[in-house]
Amino acid sequence: MVLIAPSLLSADFTRLEEAVRLIEEAGADIVHVDIMDGHFVPNLTIGPRVVELLKSKTRLPLDVHLMVDTPSAVVPWFLDAGADWISIHAEASPHLHRDIAVIKNAGRKAGVALNPATPLAALQEILRDLDFVLLMCVNPGRGSQPFIEASREKIRALRRWRDDLGLGRPWIEIDGGVNLSNLNDLAGDGAEVFVAGNAVFNAPDPREAVRQMRAAARQAGTP
Ligand code: DX5
Ligand code: ZN
Repeated sequence: MVLIAPSLLSADFTRLEEAVRLIEEAGADIVHVDIMDGHFVPNLTIGPRVVELLKSKTRLPLDVHLMVDTPSAVVPWFLDAGADWISIHAEASPHLHRDIAVIKNAGRKAGVALNPATPLAALQEILRDLDFVLLMCVNPGRGSQPFIEASREKIRALRRWRDDLGLGRPWIEIDGGVNLSNLNDLAGDGAEVFVAGNAVFNAPDPREAVRQMRAAARQAGTP
């Protein structure tokens, strides 16, 4: 399982329809949509109305990453908007179990996101309930930041943990600073879903960037 998930955060927000079409044509697997509330992270992006409109413009699953302080308040909005995957931050939710259940009961893929300094131990009691874990490899809030190298050990540790339990899930999604140069190594570490904003939308040829990232991830031999 190897999925390339271009992040619209680095796309032109006045031309999001073109952006989703472009990545769809180039062979992207899912569309990563960053929702920021100006509190959990010092930035604001888009809300459920835009997600709903994007949903009508692409057949790719929408992977909605909620960087918000009160996920329980907004998860229903994004379910209604048609989000296919939803991740909520462990740091933001005192009721992770309930929030994840709401997403799963709606028949969508549910994930927990962890900031770089949040230990994997935060997943201890919920790991088996998750479809995916989103490991932040930069501090969330903006695109184009350098990959935090310590994230590699965290990816490997999560993969070991899952393998030791004999589980095929949660899938391991990584977000922040992923590019064509480090993707191979990160796939080798055990990551399976690769979010990339800057490396796709700021590339000279975004279509080619998606194609190359797909090829590189496959080559790394991730099952
Ligand atoms: C960062 C977002 C990321 C961002 C990654 O807060 O969660 O999804 O788009 O961007 P790059 O790939 O540019 O690091
Ligand atoms: Zn993200």
